[in-house]
Amino acid sequence: MMLGSANGVPVSITGLGVHVPERVVTNDDLAQLVDTSDEWIVSRTGIRERRFVRDDEALSDIALPAAQAALAQAGITARDIDLLIVATVTADMQFPSTAAILADRLDAGDAAAYDLAAGCTGFMYGLAQAFGMVESGLSKRALVVGGDVLSKLMNFADRSTCVLFGDGAGAVVVERVPKGGFLGFELGADGAGGKDLILPAGGSRQPTTAETVANGAHYVHMNGREVFKFATRVLVNSAETILATCDLSIDDVDVYVPHQANVRIIDHAVAKLGIPKEKVIVNVDRYGNTSSASIPLALAEAISSGLVHDGDTVLMTGMGAGLTWGSAVMHWTNGR
Ligand code: ACO
Repeated sequence: MMLGSANGVPVSITGLGVHVPERVVTNDDLAQLVDTSDEWIVSRTGIRERRFVRDDEALSDIALPAAQAALAQAGITARDIDLLIVATVTADMQFPSTAAILADRLDAGDAAAYDLAAGCTGFMYGLAQAFGMVESGLSKRALVVGGDVLSKLMNFADRSTCVLFGDGAGAVVVERVPKGGFLGFELGADGAGGKDLILPAGGSRQPTTAETVANGAHYVHMNGREVFKFATRVLVNSAETILATCDLSIDDVDVYVPHQANVRIIDHAVAKLGIPKEKVIVNVDRYGNTSSASIPLALAEAISSGLVHDGDTVLMTGMGAGLTWGSAVMHWTNGR
């Protein structure tokens, strides 16, 4: 486990942008493809609809407008960043990285650019990396993108996975600020559980062959019950650990932004942590599980709905494939 409070230079988010594809896919739409129903999906997951990209759209196409909006909100251009991290498990292609593709499309000059894979926790890992590099002075300004287009990796004959995920992208500018910002991070991984959420083929273990294509090894496979148990456990443990490290209690938290996988997982964590529901952002009903985009999309909604104010204590926790998890606590700062 990696755990630490940020006692050094204040570093915060100074711009946030999000983008979701236009196409809305309802539960009834999916019931045309697999044996499921709106009633089953809503009662087991809380999801009512999600967004899917068009066939000709890839991750960088939805990441671009999110990144541009984040830069605009920070009042800078892509030339002002020296680091671009794209957290994703659905890159445009194996290589070059989507970060390098996006840097070119943004005209980010020669900023360092790389992808980071930590499943649905990717955005939290990316945020911690950007924080560390900015705090140490290695980076002046970083752009962290969390985005996934899991609709492209779903088996639309498998009702236990294809109803859960949606596509989206979010981006933040991370830089030094006069005061406030990140208070601490907690990140971890449990590779032994990796088999419970897996896309087996297309890597060096199982390169693409006619057989891997035929047996569905290029789709997401999930042991839903095991992932559910893991998710409920880490959502609570990670939050409690990072709050204790920052000398805070759950009562100090003004806004709680949990990963949006399933409303039952969120409800469980909210009850265990003992945080009032009014402080919790839930938008999984409209977007499904957008993986690395989930936390920035939820954070953007918290801000647009007026829930987050300058100086508020914000707690974010993500978890996903790896299995991985990650939390951050920060004092929100409005702009610089
Ligand atoms: N429609 C109708 N029936 C379904 C569907 C569906 N879409 N999917 C599964 N079922 C059936 C199963 O086949 C099973 O039928 P059976 O009893 O005849 O075998 C029955 O429903 C019950 O299946 P369970 O898996 O026990 O259902 P459960 O209540 O556990 O809900 C779910 C399944 C929603 C996948 C749940 O386990 C879950 O949310 N797991 C967490 C998964 C997750 O969020 N992953 C996201 C990625 S990682 C992350 O972000 C944390």
